[in-house]
Amino acid sequence: MYKIVSIPGDGIGPEVVAGAVAVLKQLSRKHDFEIEIEEHPFGGASYDLHGEMLTHATLEACRKCDAVLLGAVGGPKWEKLAHEHKPEAALLKIRKELELFANLRPAKVYDALLGASSLKADVVRCTDFLVFRELTGGIYFGQPRGFDENKGWNTMVYERYEVERIARLAFESARKRDKKVISIDKANVLEVSQFWRNVVHEVHKDFQDIELSDMYVDNAAMQIVRNPKQFDVIVTGNLFGDILSDIAGMITGSLGMLPSASIGIKHALYEPIHGSAPDIAGQNKANPIATIASVAMMFDYSFSLPEIATEIYQAIEAALASGLRTADIANPGESAVSTTVMTEAIVRHLGA
Ligand code: NAD
Ligand code: IPM
Ligand code: MN
Repeated sequence: MYKIVSIPGDGIGPEVVAGAVAVLKQLSRKHDFEIEIEEHPFGGASYDLHGEMLTHATLEACRKCDAVLLGAVGGPKWEKLAHEHKPEAALLKIRKELELFANLRPAKVYDALLGASSLKADVVRCTDFLVFRELTGGIYFGQPRGFDENKGWNTMVYERYEVERIARLAFESARKRDKKVISIDKANVLEVSQFWRNVVHEVHKDFQDIELSDMYVDNAAMQIVRNPKQFDVIVTGNLFGDILSDIAGMITGSLGMLPSASIGIKHALYEPIHGSAPDIAGQNKANPIATIASVAMMFDYSFSLPEIATEIYQAIEAALASGLRTADIANPGESAVSTTVMTEAIVRHLGA
């Protein structure tokens, strides 16, 4: 039995999580395993109900389950709250409390979507890289932080153990891929980045079969767009990983395509890389694929059932190959289907 806590959150969160839950239920029927899904409020939705973005009950449920499925949080309704009370702060808190230090963001291009990218098909064809974004350190968490009328400040800090553990995971993963890691930093300017680079190279001594190179983050942003195929595994800090993975999203056609797994020692949480998309929320227009593919990552990483992950990816591919497109991946003039129609097609392709 798999015990999953779902926290749909805000904006399109509930719409895309409903798609992922439909996929989970179909898999449970098909393979005859039991999946218990317990839904909890989170983010703005939780604030509106309980006056708190992350309640003790939601956090405890996340601690006790086998895997967490998250939609997205945030939106204009809660933007004016003080920083520490925003939905985004609750997301950082849940990551920190569950010690989800590694955020894996795979950028893989589906053949059916070659025409959906804003880049030329020849540039993006066969792109397949995996970003290891450090998720519980760096400038997102460093102290001091704050602002007053005349000044704003944040602090980027990395401890040795934080760099070591994410670098190790990235090298281990590269062993099962093309054995190439690129570490991305800003060591030409930032001391914290020079430290990052030094530690990554120390860890590399245990992984001599893996090719390691360094790249400055500004160049990396350009290289991902110029020639995304040169990347296999990327390892980088929290802020750089956030920015570079949105760029990677557009390689695949849309932010609505990129799943992620946030992994720690004891817990794991699966979430699309996109946000709550207030501009299309509540309209049944959102692309559910990033969230459904996050379920595939759940089967792969949390349940050690890569064959089920493959089934999910194949069902997504089949739905795309049949020509279905949500608005974000439709070409101009092409008609678009709703979140629910895309979900139903993927569920159908999973088979019974
Ligand atoms: P966003 O990712 O929500 O949206 C950016 C653009 O991409 C929008 O035009 C949106 O319509 C589109 N988009 C995103 N996901 C899509 C999908 N599945 N299908 C179709 N189109 C999609 O980023 P934003 O607008 O900068 O942020 C909106 C809110 O979401 C903010 O409050 C932000 O803090 C929050 N946010 C939350 C998360 C998270 O919960 N993990 C991630 C990013 C942003
Ligand atoms: C993401 C988001 C979050 C981040 C925000 C909403 C806190 O952009 O998951 O990529 O910056 O990590
Ligand atoms: Mn982001």
